[in-house]
Amino acid sequence: MDLKPYNTMAVSAKARYFAEVTDRRELELVLDFARRENIEPFILGGGSNLLIASHLVNRLVIKMNMKGFEVRTDEKIVKVGAGESWHETVQRVLDLGWGGPENLALIPGTVGGAVVQNIGAYGAEVAQFVRSVEVFDPQTSLVRTLTNEECDFGYRHSVFKTQAGSKWIVLAVKLAFDSQWSANLSYKELALGFKDSQETTPQAIFEAVVAARSRKLPDPKVLPSAGSFFKNPVVTREVFQQLLEQFPSIVHYPLSGGREKLAAGWLIDQAGLKGVRHGFAGTYEKQALVLVNHDGSADGQALLDFASFIQDTVEEKFGVRLEPEPVVLE
Ligand code: EPU
Repeated sequence: MDLKPYNTMAVSAKARYFAEVTDRRELELVLDFARRENIEPFILGGGSNLLIASHLVNRLVIKMNMKGFEVRTDEKIVKVGAGESWHETVQRVLDLGWGGPENLALIPGTVGGAVVQNIGAYGAEVAQFVRSVEVFDPQTSLVRTLTNEECDFGYRHSVFKTQAGSKWIVLAVKLAFDSQWSANLSYKELALGFKDSQETTPQAIFEAVVAARSRKLPDPKVLPSAGSFFKNPVVTREVFQQLLEQFPSIVHYPLSGGREKLAAGWLIDQAGLKGVRHGFAGTYEKQALVLVNHDGSADGQALLDFASFIQDTVEEKFGVRLEPEPVVLE
């Protein structure tokens, strides 16, 4: 089975075993198979935050296709299957006449992936809306419900990315929305668009976010990518002060405790690496933080080599080592 259609980077790689599951029973069956064959499973969502490094993946790749969208109107809660599309979920919530997730429109991937990764954009993160997460524990064959706190969300981080939590398989997510909606215009560019606007509605913000993303980010169907390839690095106050002296226009966002988050896209751009290309691997011409796979012809190793080149060049100029955002599947 070629995994090319299952990752937005469009890397071609064979999976030793592949299964698509639509409910818990099927999941248990394929996990039993993996145990019997002594092969490690790999849970695949939308493949939009994934870099497949090798040509042959010696795993049982399990494509999560669990559907479901249950509405609790009284509590403004939806319970959504892990395999549902995140963007469609945002649309369905807005179609209920509710607001909340509009800043997170057009992010590729599934609801399960959204939680594992704690997706974020335009001043919002999915963690804000997660009431609880239903997970399957393959070691005990039990289903468990984790509260928001137990998910330990951080910037592009959750318990599911740690050793302790990686064993859990997300089955469904409960998303809760405020009874009184108010617009989140904390992201400067989004606020500017609504400066003189009379009509600030969830739908209007949704459309503005869709338009902004379409302007800045490549459509994976046209030019394969995994969105931002690196996280925005966080540095101490001391490191930041030194950088600011040397680079007065450095883009930064203050965090609590005096730390600063830097814009990785700005760092890569200033290192002269926006729109460059090594073979089929490159950075996007409009957003240096996005690694692209031209013609879908680069393999995982070529993309990883290119990513290392970016890390080295940025580190040489700014003394900051960028950390990749996607999951790397060997
Ligand atoms: N910038 C440049 N040159 C570039 C790219 C960016 O100078 O080539 C500057 C911009 O002008 C801006 C700053 O860097 O001042 C930040 O850029 P941008 O607003 O485009 O956002 P980002 O920090 O690069 C983050 C998320 C995106 C999310 C956007 C919008 C990360 C790693 N990325 O990007 O998330 O859509 O903000 O909120 O946090 C993703 O995670 O896959 C992703 C696309």
